[in-house]
Amino acid sequence: MDKLVIEGGGPLLGEVRISGSKNATLPILAATLMTDEPCTIRNVPRLRDTMTMIKLLKSLGKTVEFNENEVRVSSKGSLNYLADYKLVSTMRGSFCVLGPLLAKLKRAKVSLPGGCVIGIRPVDLHLKGLKNLGAKFEFEAGYVMGKTNSLKGNYVYLGGDFGSSVLATANVMMAAVLARGETIIDSAACEPEVEALADFLMAMGAKIKGKGTSRITVNGVKKLHGANFSICSDRIEAGTFVLLAAATKSNITLTGLDYTHILALIDKLQEAGLKFQHADGWLKVKCQRNLKPTSITTYPYPGFPTDLQAQFTTLMAMTPGVSIITDKVFPDRFMHIAELNRMGANIRRDGNSAIIQGIKTLYGAPVMASDLRASAALVIAGLAAKGKTEIHRIYHLERGYENLEEKLVKLGAKIYREKE
Ligand code: EPZ
Repeated sequence: MDKLVIEGGGPLLGEVRISGSKNATLPILAATLMTDEPCTIRNVPRLRDTMTMIKLLKSLGKTVEFNENEVRVSSKGSLNYLADYKLVSTMRGSFCVLGPLLAKLKRAKVSLPGGCVIGIRPVDLHLKGLKNLGAKFEFEAGYVMGKTNSLKGNYVYLGGDFGSSVLATANVMMAAVLARGETIIDSAACEPEVEALADFLMAMGAKIKGKGTSRITVNGVKKLHGANFSICSDRIEAGTFVLLAAATKSNITLTGLDYTHILALIDKLQEAGLKFQHADGWLKVKCQRNLKPTSITTYPYPGFPTDLQAQFTTLMAMTPGVSIITDKVFPDRFMHIAELNRMGANIRRDGNSAIIQGIKTLYGAPVMASDLRASAALVIAGLAAKGKTEIHRIYHLERGYENLEEKLVKLGAKIYREKE
């Protein structure tokens, strides 16, 4: 296992190109199961999670080539309907093969995804939505077995106690595409990644209206053809670099991003006093002054994204004054607090909130990564802190940030990898 060593303190400078979106890539790769024809998908980030999804597609019977950032998926015969525990348990996003397998094979056996440090991660909304379309489920030894004679369009309400569900919307929308008749999904997730999935399905011949809104209408078709598609940029990576620039008082230009996908973050940082310049495809962050303590509450899109909550917490930990961070999507997503406090932060958890008494300077220390976005929060803290930080268990980081060290070194960061 490797660890990351960071010498913190200096401002960064330069340009960084944002990679393709991990969370758009995963359901889009799953959707290739719904056609026997070849699909070519470009701008796919090379990540642990995308490699896991590719392994899963191969185990289900697909031929997959991954060169540079382009994935070609084709069929070599009939599909297998078993999505194995080994793969699904390492990445919950694999659960979004359930809808496509039911649509294509009328049956599926998918390992129930485990929980993770950010929450118990139930799948009740996925199963409720698919049942509405005519699927029946049994459970055995940690697997969900689904089958259907034929999927039939229906009304589906997908709102849960924590709002809409991104991957439940993906699973139900994909199944609806090959169901007979019309499906209306209400309280659907509006995330750009769900919109990108709808775009890919429509490129394959699906009939979908209302993509990116909370009401999606799908008119079922008999068959889907192959498609060529390019993945949108990763809004969470973009937001992570914006928060890195703010925390290290740097002057960084992001390219290849969609500025409109991170307006909730931009709005909060402008409230804190950060200045931005932007035009088509690029965003310049120049942070020379101290920011004001600013509180946030996370919500489903277009609200402030839970996937930027930990990184924002790091910024507020080093912004003198009191700020309150509330996570309404994953109320337990605070594993990063203990690690930031080891670096001198003064943060207290109170239910689904973190109460931050911001201080001027964090100090380097050995810390432990716990999940993907908490790891990013610790990298930001290490780059902004005085002294040396060692981040252990960085495989979490490799799941969702493409070439992160190279991108940071190019910006002047003193960061390198060492064997544990
Ligand atoms: C997606 O996970 C993302 N992952 C997560 O990003 C992201 O944090 C999350 O959406 C919220 O934006 C991928 O896209 C691969 P949800 P997903 O279903 O779809 C509850 C990252 O860092 N819920 O939208 O699994 C759930 O517990 C990852 O890239 C139910 O109650 O999340 C949560 O409180 C982490 N029942 C809320 O809904 C269900 O059946 C939102 O979860 C499903 C979800």
